[in-house]
Amino acid sequence: MLFSVATARAAVAGYVVAHHAADEGEILNLAVTPLHRRRGLGRALVRHVLGRLARRMVKIVFLEARQSNTAARRLYESLGFVGVGRRPGYYRRPLEDAVILRVTLAQVAYL
Ligand SMILES: CC(C)(COP(=O)(O)OP(=O)(O)OC[C@H]1O[C@@H](n2cnc3c(N)ncnc32)[C@H](O)[C@@H]1OP(=O)(O)O)[C@@H](O)C(=O)NCCC(=O)NCCS
Repeated sequence: MLFSVATARAAVAGYVVAHHAADEGEILNLAVTPLHRRRGLGRALVRHVLGRLARRMVKIVFLEARQSNTAARRLYESLGFVGVGRRPGYYRRPLEDAVILRVTLAQVAYL
């Protein structure tokens, strides 16, 4: 399990959690506190964890996001993630489909 935290003035401003098995990784959670959003922190956290995964010989990384989560989907797509599937009714309260996103680390220039 990989856990990275971003701090601002000694307080947690954001975090990302990922894990991997063999050459496949998954981002399990990502969040930035509302006060610190839209300053590049989310993108920096994802880049950071993808770099850590790449150094562990991970080749491909998946994640799920709510279909309506435009902020997260744009962030991930800006880093090369592409939609590869959908899990109908995956999320509860409210019920919503998950989109499955994937990136191939060998194809990303930013690591
Ligand atoms: C998704 C989240 C982590 C983004 O964090 P952030 O630090 O604000 O993101 P960044 O500043 O790095 O933004 C990177 C890109 O994401 C996209 N983006 C971020 N917030 C956005 C918003 N509110 N609306 C549209 N696009 C957005 C933009 O393309 C942005 O690039 P730009 O600023 O150059 O336009 C944050 O909104 C959050 O914590 N949301 C709640 C938890 C969550 O949804 N986690 C993801 C679960 S899959």
